[in-house]
Amino acid sequence: MRAHPAGPLHGGMTPPPSVGLPPADLGALDPQVWPRSARRVDGELHLAGRPVTELARAHGTPLFVLDEADFRGRAADFATAFTDADVHYASKAFLCGQVARWLADDGLHLDACSGNELAVALAAGFPAERIALHGNNKSLVELQLAVDAGIGHVVLDSFDEIDRLVPMAEARVAAGGSPVPVLIRTTVGIEAHTHEFIATAHEDQKFGFSLATGDALTAAVRVIREPALHLSGLHSHIGSQIFDTAGFEAAAHRVVGLMGQVHQATGEVLGELNLGGGFGIAYLPDDDPVTPGDVARRLRTVVAAECAALDLPVPRLAVEPGRAIAGPGTVTLYEIGTIKPVRLGSGGQGAPQVRNYVSVDGGMSDNIRTALYDASYTCVLANRTSEAPPALCRVVGKHCESGDVLVRDLWLPSDVQPGDLLAVAATGAYCWSMASNYNYLLKPPVVAVRDGAATEVVRRQTLADVFALDAVLADVPAPSPAIDQPAPEHPVGARS
Ligand SMILES: Cc1ncc(COP(=O)(O)O)c(C=O)c1O
Repeated sequence: MRAHPAGPLHGGMTPPPSVGLPPADLGALDPQVWPRSARRVDGELHLAGRPVTELARAHGTPLFVLDEADFRGRAADFATAFTDADVHYASKAFLCGQVARWLADDGLHLDACSGNELAVALAAGFPAERIALHGNNKSLVELQLAVDAGIGHVVLDSFDEIDRLVPMAEARVAAGGSPVPVLIRTTVGIEAHTHEFIATAHEDQKFGFSLATGDALTAAVRVIREPALHLSGLHSHIGSQIFDTAGFEAAAHRVVGLMGQVHQATGEVLGELNLGGGFGIAYLPDDDPVTPGDVARRLRTVVAAECAALDLPVPRLAVEPGRAIAGPGTVTLYEIGTIKPVRLGSGGQGAPQVRNYVSVDGGMSDNIRTALYDASYTCVLANRTSEAPPALCRVVGKHCESGDVLVRDLWLPSDVQPGDLLAVAATGAYCWSMASNYNYLLKPPVVAVRDGAATEVVRRQTLADVFALDAVLADVPAPSPAIDQPAPEHPVGARS
């Protein structure tokens, strides 16, 4: 059993951390980790030509700053690498109306994982025929929305879902419409994360049809025999934050094998193969993700070889990157509030004696990933550089949880102070989209920056928004002055 972090971790002296030596330049912006437009100008971090103090003053903190050219550039890198394939942006990483419009304009496809993600994309004008809908428990309402909108694919996840979809598809065909195009999500017994992948025959998870049990083949045969459904192809997704293509290659091998079985059983040649997302990004300078070009080359080679071996035509490939498009181009700006030095246990000669708990004005409500997955992030002092010696720090949020950590161990200049701004890198994926109102903190805004201009693409949630949901508080005015808005005289970056 895992101990609750509010329990034993409080007791005794904390052991020294296993953090490496301080980097030579504490303010350096590693190009692997920071948005493509990130620069220091007179010491201050600028994003797409905008100084962070100005952004924080105008929009408050915490603040997600999204480098538009970085986001669209990474989407374009995938589109270029996969010219002969479809690139679906996995919108669960981060979606808003503006992002949907950029992707639509740039010719990408889009994956939605819920009816509401689908509704956001459609409301933004994203072409329905370029959308796929995922989900292990799609409701009747969600399926009907997909059928009525005429989306590109419903990605079938279970026998129950086939039962739910068929009557809707039949009604569409009876009304003169076309059969509903579907993919079958297969679980191929490969689980991949970063550098490792595990290949098993056994599946113990909620998604998809197992290849090992024969369910995937049974589902494919069943769908092929349903006149109101059109089985376009197969789908597989093997994990997240993957740096090595070997897992994708193993998955491709297995899923093409299933295409062969479907062909044998029914004579049908399936035309599409979607190998999912999961391409890793650099959260830390030492991370070394694969490039879209490498992934595309390896996948093409493996799929071509497997198809040749089975005497099948090569299907049209698709991939579903989310993190690799949205992650690196966004940083979160926070203002430092309190700093608490904590004495550490003896770690031997040269080991740090003190860790500074640097508290910021957000936390696990705007970035749950460190607490949830033990994810690693890095951050810098953003409003200025400093020549002060390095101090071991832990960047924590303001929530009532001792597990509310954003950056577990890192070196910051020892003179960081309340009022300074911190920028946490690579927060574009699964941060805003997983944000919560824990402790009634409010979801931060997202500001897109490009060529020196800043546009708020998602506004800050207000306490009035939250009061409006509450049966008792709906008509009660939120406190004034608003405690959830930056004050006009907000001393952002006071030390700059
Ligand atoms: C089916 C599917 N496709 C794509 C993705 C996107 O993954 P990533 O953001 O790691 O590329 C996910 C994420 O879990 C997923 O479940």
